[in-house]
Amino acid sequence: MTTREISGQTRLCGVIGDPVEHTVSPAMHNAAFKSLGIDYVYVSFKVRKNDLASAVEGARALNIRGLNVTLPHKVEIIPLLDELDPLAEKIGAVNVIVNDEGLWKGYNTDADGFLQAMLEQGIEAEGKKITILGAGGASRAISFALAGRCADLTILNRTLASAAVLACEISKNFAVAVAALELDRKNLVKALEGADILVNTTSMGMNPDVDSTPVAGDLIRPRLTVVDIVYNPVKTRLLAEAEKAGARTVSGLNMLVWQGALAFEKWTGLRPPLELMRREAARALKKHEK
Ligand code: ATR
Repeated sequence: MTTREISGQTRLCGVIGDPVEHTVSPAMHNAAFKSLGIDYVYVSFKVRKNDLASAVEGARALNIRGLNVTLPHKVEIIPLLDELDPLAEKIGAVNVIVNDEGLWKGYNTDADGFLQAMLEQGIEAEGKKITILGAGGASRAISFALAGRCADLTILNRTLASAAVLACEISKNFAVAVAALELDRKNLVKALEGADILVNTTSMGMNPDVDSTPVAGDLIRPRLTVVDIVYNPVKTRLLAEAEKAGARTVSGLNMLVWQGALAFEKWTGLRPPLELMRREAARALKKHEK
């Protein structure tokens, strides 16, 4: 635990959600503030569903500079904001808010964070055939980010209806070919045929559910790039099996760090120390794994 001097000018940032006990964002952001020598501090606030409106108003009154917004508030916060970034509006979910002179503006850095995490590994979505697993909040952000770039998108979800709704919204907004299927082995075989990139946005494989995986290892071909947005554990069963199959893999830690780095930039106006944030997030995750 780092201790730092809090002054009369310290600016406050944080995360609101429930649960927030295991968040690694404080470790990541506080290390970044410290390394740039800026008078900011980041804390986590456990905010229950029914308390969201008073929390947002209270944070405004306390002149809090900015907040990450996590489950279960990413959608419900929208009507409480003064302004909404067009991408966040399209996605229908907000994960970062910024207090500009008393006005809350909402953004979604999950979408760009995902694209940046891919780009830094030299993976581009342009012209690719992509399979996305899951149709929840994270999938919405990632699907919208990819839909403007890739050639073909298939969304598979345990509950077919939510995949169908998402596919329908995407086809209204983008020219991409998009399909919705139920998440089962038969449909996975079909979707992965000729696919370039597979993205898991479901919570399967997330601690403590570490033995489960959304895709059986024998379905993964070496030509596939497998991206998991689950970051706890950093190497999920899906990624371990993909690696074994000779596929390229991208861990959720990369997206976690990038969405945080983009939020940091919005609150401070400064270039985030990305490598430091990555190290700190990994270190904090390791602590939780113990
Ligand atoms: P997030 O913001 O992380 O996307 P979410 O909105 O709660 O969280 O979405 C979770 C996603 O994981 C959903 O697509 C969910 O499928 P359903 O729509 O059928 O609920 C998926 N998911 C969660 N647990 C799952 C499981 N055991 N098997 C398959 N899919 C699962």
